[in-house]
Amino acid sequence: MTTLSTTPTDVDMTPRNMSFDLEHALKGDWHSQDPFKTAFFNAMSMLFPIGEKHFIDSVAKFKDRVTDEKLLAEVRKFTIQEAMHTREHRKFNQRLCQLRGYDLDLMEDRLTADQDRLKEELPPIVGLYTTVAYEHFTAIMADRLLRDPRILEGSDPALLPMWRWHAYEETEHKAVAFDVLTVAGGTHEARKKTMRLVTLRFTQHMIFNINHMLKSDGYSFFQRLKIWAGGLKWLFQRDGFLRSLKSDFLDYFKADFHPWQHDNRELLVSFEKEIKALAA
Ligand SMILES: [Fe+2]
Ligand SMILES: [Fe+2]
Repeated sequence: MTTLSTTPTDVDMTPRNMSFDLEHALKGDWHSQDPFKTAFFNAMSMLFPIGEKHFIDSVAKFKDRVTDEKLLAEVRKFTIQEAMHTREHRKFNQRLCQLRGYDLDLMEDRLTADQDRLKEELPPIVGLYTTVAYEHFTAIMADRLLRDPRILEGSDPALLPMWRWHAYEETEHKAVAFDVLTVAGGTHEARKKTMRLVTLRFTQHMIFNINHMLKSDGYSFFQRLKIWAGGLKWLFQRDGFLRSLKSDFLDYFKADFHPWQHDNRELLVSFEKEIKALAA
């Protein structure tokens, strides 16, 4: 295993300072006027600020062991990119919860409790393993968001730039935490084990957040069941968002897995202009 950066040299990773006007869109069901699709993405946004802060901290703990200058520079850029994502998603989440009456603390406290337990009970490398697992999730979802326009089709146009910018930068820095884990001596077995736990917790947090949002929107238990049925169909039908990720997800369990085995630099090229224009 190499202790050098494995990110291709033509991947830029320059952090972009963005700001979005989401006020109008967040008031309603911004994704296709559909309560589930909207709650799904809102629920995911709710995980970012605390999750990404954890990614930054976990990578920082092992930064001193990195000797490759290119990887060190990438760790710095990764940190700034994630800090910007945290800032923008925090604004998104706070405004969303104000406008729609969701309980931000209720959703965030569960995640904070997870992180606190992790920090208190387990060695720092476990934080890095969980970071690498979550970065795989975000990388494969980001790939699909950029690749398949149907996933956000019908969304309020005001929200598209934010999701695309985030997906773009997740693609750029998808191997950074992985490379740091290699430097830190991460093993394949522990990586697989952590991914199973992370998948379970991620699913539980998403279910909790979506359900909280739908309940706060005033849907009764039976109405929520119906909404969930439609939502699960959207996620897992043939070509459904999550179902389409299955093979990319499972690649993580291969002993020789590396994020850039999914070489999707063509997406970075095709969205480059749009992202540059946004940052201007
Ligand atoms: Fe991010
Ligand atoms: Fe990331």
